[in-house]
This record gives sequence, C-alpha cells and structure tokens, in this order.
Amino acid sequence: MRIFSGIQPTGRKHLGNYIGAIQHYVAGQDRGEGIYCVVDLHATTVAYDPADLRARLYDTLAILVASGLDPDRCVLFRQSDVQEHPELAWLLASVTAWGDLNRMHQFKEKSGAQRDLVSAGLFTYPVLMAADVLAYRATHVPVGDDQRQHIELMRDIAERFNARFGETLVVPEGTYPTVGARIMDLQEPTRKMSTTGGTPEGTVYVLDDARTITKKIKRAVTDSDDPPTIRRGGPEKAGVTNLLEILAAARGTTVDEAEASLAGARGYGDLKAAAAEAVVALLTPVRERYEELRGDEDALEAILETGAGKARALASATLADVRRVMGVARPG
Ligand code: TRP
Repeated sequence: MRIFSGIQPTGRKHLGNYIGAIQHYVAGQDRGEGIYCVVDLHATTVAYDPADLRARLYDTLAILVASGLDPDRCVLFRQSDVQEHPELAWLLASVTAWGDLNRMHQFKEKSGAQRDLVSAGLFTYPVLMAADVLAYRATHVPVGDDQRQHIELMRDIAERFNARFGETLVVPEGTYPTVGARIMDLQEPTRKMSTTGGTPEGTVYVLDDARTITKKIKRAVTDSDDPPTIRRGGPEKAGVTNLLEILAAARGTTVDEAEASLAGARGYGDLKAAAAEAVVALLTPVRERYEELRGDEDALEAILETGAGKARALASATLADVRRVMGVARPG
C-alpha cells in the first residue's frame, strides 16, 4: 500500500483537518509508504501573494511535522521542488477530456469567486492533481468528500493513459473519512468545520491557544432538550453529537465510551468542559512543537530538501516510463 496525499498550504489548519486528515496521515506512516506533498503549485491558480504563499507553506509544514509526520518515516515535500509533477501534468493533459474538466464542481465554485481573472491553471488544476498521485504509482489517496470528483477524474485519466499507451500507471483509490470522523462547525453543527465556509467562533484552529479553544467549545450550540440528554442523535441533536464525536476523537476512544463517561453529568456544561479539556490536551503539544519548528526556516528547508530527493527518486522512474511509451524525449 502506497499512500499519497496533497495538502493545501493554507497554514490555517482546523480541528476538522487535524482529526479528519492529519491524524490519518500520521497513522498511514506505519501502515505503508506515506507520501505527503504540500501543494504550492495548486495554490497559484487563484489570486495570491507570493511572500504570503512561502510563509504559509512553512506554517503548514511545521504543523504537519508538529503533528507527528516524521520526515524519516515518510516522504514529506513541496510540490514545486519536484518538476516531474508539472511535466506529467502536461503529458496527462493529452488524455484528459476538456468536457470532464468543464464539469468539475470545484472549478465552478472557485471560478465564480475570482474577481479579476479565472486562470487556465484553475481549469487544469485536476490534471496537476492527477499527476501528483500518478507520478508515485500510489494505491490509496486519503482525501475529503469534496475531492471525490477529482479522484474519479484521476482514475479515468490513468485508465485512458493505460488503454492508449499500454499498462504504465497505477489506478489509485480514494479513501474517504467515515461519517463519524466529520467534525462540524460548533456554531452551525449541520455544516462541516471549514476555514472558508464556516463561522469564525465555530472553528477551532490547531494553533489556537487553550483559552481560545475553551471559549469556542463552551459557546458551542447544543439543544434545548429538557432534561438535557448527552446522547448521539439526528439533525435535531447535531450539536451534542458533534461535541461527543470531538470528545471521542480527541481522547482516542469510541463515541460510546465518550457517552458512557458522561453518564453522571448534570448538563451540557459538563460535556463542553470535557470536550474542551480533551481538545486542549490534544492540541497543546502540537502548538508548542510548532512554535519551536516555525522559528527555524533553514531547518524546515532542510526537511523539504530531503523529502524532495526521495520524491524525485520515485517520480523520475515513472516519468521515464511515461516519456518512453509516449514517444517523447530522448529514448533511454
Ligand atoms: N485538491 C486537494 C484539496 O483541495 C489537494 C490536492 C492536490 C491533493 N493534489 C492532491 C489531494 C493529490 C490528494 C492527492 O484538498
């Protein structure tokens, strides 16, 4: 099993990213080969500031390492350091249907939000994403639900390539978070926690300090059941369900165990206090380690350099095959 995932260099990772994705990357290091790429080239497809992109990339890398991604046990690198990615993206464009790209939900959403320019890069974003994964012949791609369409397209591209040029690429599978692993916004618990689409008070960031985390969780929306029942339920109990799931995920237990631990609770205040304590215990060591790492950009660059070396070794082998079967470049 070879796992590949791409991480946006937003620098602002929230509790949903941490529990739904980052913790799985960390676990993936022991389950097989883990290859994790911070996708700065994808970040250039919408309006951005160059100095800010570089800073946010360091932020993101420091969060990933602080969370337990170990550069010695996985391949952790910056997309733009490995030129095989854009080269393969160009080559794969020849087996990508324009009509498929034109159907991508994410393109429609993001292009609608651009004020000055809808870039061609935004349109071909999914081809670069396919190249990211296919360059490593990865078998599994852990991503959020919102990436399903991109993964299907990536699989189609690999299949069309193999049909046209002969078996060369591995057709990867997407792996998606289970329903319970979805952290919802604390203020609007029927919506996913999100940096862009959520409420600021309902979003807990990995780098929030203990006071901020506690304040946000204590103000979380619950319900007005009388007597209060600390149990999972349907949409009418979305707030309580979310707090129980956060508590369980932060403690590393099942939701049943989290419910059972609150059997003697007097009200939702106890649930919130327990969840706040567990999340603070989970994130405080990450924030402290982050502060240490983020202060030394040379050390971060050294991590990236090692990662890029390992990534290139894998990707260059695939690219040699791809160039050969496509009849481009010097035969070798
Ligand atoms: N598009 C992904 C997202 O927005 C990020 C990404 C880029 C990615 N390349 C990837 C994810 C390759 C998985 C595999 O989350």
